[in-house]
Amino acid sequence: MKVQFKILRQKFNKTPHSQTYSLDVKLNATILDCLNRIKWEKDGTLAFRKNCRNTICGSCNMKINGRSALACKENVGS
Ligand code: FES
Repeated sequence: MKVQFKILRQKFNKTPHSQTYSLDVKLNATILDCLNRIKWEKDGTLAFRKNCRNTICGSCNMKINGRSALACKENVGS
């Protein structure tokens, strides 16, 4: 399934801007998996916080579709 990720990005002392990436993903892929793929396959400058990948540490908490969620817990299908 082709999904578009609209990601809010910001450089030091600059106004935030959104950047869109499209990716072919499976519905059970987590948002964190998708962000990693975007970073590894499309744009190595993309930075985001993560640590345990198991919904324990809370590092990957971010706003996903307008609400706060853990990127390693939310999957594309939800
Ligand atoms: S990476 Fe630790 S909660 Fe998501």
